Amino acid sequence: MRILRPKSPFKVNEFEYDPNAFALRKEEISFCVQNLFHERNILIYGPRAIGKSSMGIQLQKMLMGDKTLLTRCDIDSDFPKYLCTRIPCNKQDSISQVAYNILCFLERQYNKKLKSINYKDKKYFLKFNLGVLQAGVETKIDSTKYSPTTIATILTSELANALKIIIESGIYQGINVMIDELDYLSPDINFAHFIKTVYEMLSTEGAKHISFIFAGNTGIYNHLWKGDPSFSRIINTVKIPILKAGELEFILDYAGATFSPPFKIEDKGKELIVSLSSGFPHIPHLLGDAGFKVMKDESNMTFDDIKIGIDNILMSDKKEEYLSVLREISEEDRELITNITKYEQEDKTLPVEIPIEWIKEEFGDKLVNGKSTKSILDSLVKGGYIKKNKERAHYVFSEELFRVFITLARLEREEVLINKGEELEYEKIKNFANENLLNEIRSGKLDLDTDLTHEERKEVIKKLRKSITNSKSTRKWEETEWFDFL
Ligand SMILES: Nc1ncnc2c1ncn2[C@@H]1O[C@H](COP(=O)(O)OP(=O)(O)O)[C@@H](O)[C@H]1O
Ligand SMILES: [Mg+2]
Repeated sequence: MRILRPKSPFKVNEFEYDPNAFALRKEEISFCVQNLFHERNILIYGPRAIGKSSMGIQLQKMLMGDKTLLTRCDIDSDFPKYLCTRIPCNKQDSISQVAYNILCFLERQYNKKLKSINYKDKKYFLKFNLGVLQAGVETKIDSTKYSPTTIATILTSELANALKIIIESGIYQGINVMIDELDYLSPDINFAHFIKTVYEMLSTEGAKHISFIFAGNTGIYNHLWKGDPSFSRIINTVKIPILKAGELEFILDYAGATFSPPFKIEDKGKELIVSLSSGFPHIPHLLGDAGFKVMKDESNMTFDDIKIGIDNILMSDKKEEYLSVLREISEEDRELITNITKYEQEDKTLPVEIPIEWIKEEFGDKLVNGKSTKSILDSLVKGGYIKKNKERAHYVFSEELFRVFITLARLEREEVLINKGEELEYEKIKNFANENLLNEIRSGKLDLDTDLTHEERKEVIKKLRKSITNSKSTRKWEETEWFDFL
């Protein structure tokens, strides 16, 4: 009989709700806390999976009265308690739907709280008048009858009423609403203008103590600003940067130390995970979880466990995601991004820093679909796939794991070629393998499992592991600011 492994302490595809487990970004947290203290609205932005939702959730936890995060950031301040709710946006959402969700979520959250503390006085329970919004939600479109101004009027008057009730109940002194995943809203919706109207109406009503946290991916600020430039006056923006090595290690250590029974993670393994994370918090969770699943000694996660975990991830969880990126980008982007993974760093250190000089020598004169190598590199940077480091001498992948994935896919094709017995020099095999990889992506028949036998697959994995010997952490990459802001 086999005993099932307990659930791992890593949070794969879960927000970080625990303020003790949250890897600190002191500067950004302080900025947000200060603004929320002044009841200013904030816009959190950054790349996908950098931790925007988790940051908003942490801030709201603090606003609801949990002081853990403040203490960990050495902030000593008495915050009034806020009734908080977070609503994610969806593709089909109309403005009515967003307003409806805000009120429904607040109502549910607050009434649940009253019940939990056995509050008996009925008059303090919230019951919004959702009639008009309900109609908008049911027809799915905001008919002209319910203009954004009408919806803003209803939302603000209901919010102002609610504020009065919750203050009278003595439990909360304000309301905070997080509107997350703004990118999902249809581009036809002028959300910035709607929010500005709400803000102005609340000010006119004298409804202080209501603030918003907005969150969206890099580029959202531009989009909102274009909708209504005065939106910038009513919010303060905060960019969520990539995490430092120590913060990424904290995620791993915290999981190991708080698990029962606690386990250690070998330093070399931790370094490897950090070097593959590219500063993103979801990678230590993902790779930590993968290592956890194959751990032999329950008190120690070894370097080897982690390497096996990485192989497993590249053949399962991340496979579809990376394959669809390769399918979706343009022909010339795809060709160059796979080609540059052919660069092998002598000291086998991750992340691989690909010298611009090498790229120039190898592909510099080549035009693909009439595009120069330089313009394709720019397009890859703009798409967020690669970054230039600060000295501007090297490129690194924005997700180092993506580079490892492409390398693995090519190594498999190399193995197929080698086993066909073709007597070719290694450089030629590498080029053919890359060509085969591109053809398979193009024809849609790419299946990472190729026709390899068990033995051949083992050989591929061995080679992949050999290419990962050392790891280091670096933050000297240039952030792709120029498409974040104006
Ligand atoms: N500061 C942090 N410390 C630990 N884990 C984090 C932190 N921020 C985010 N995470 C984890 O990273 C993943 C992505 O976070 P999420 O908040 O969903 O990012 P985003 O909203 O930017 O897409 C989640 O699994 C979450 O648990
Ligand atoms: Mg999110």
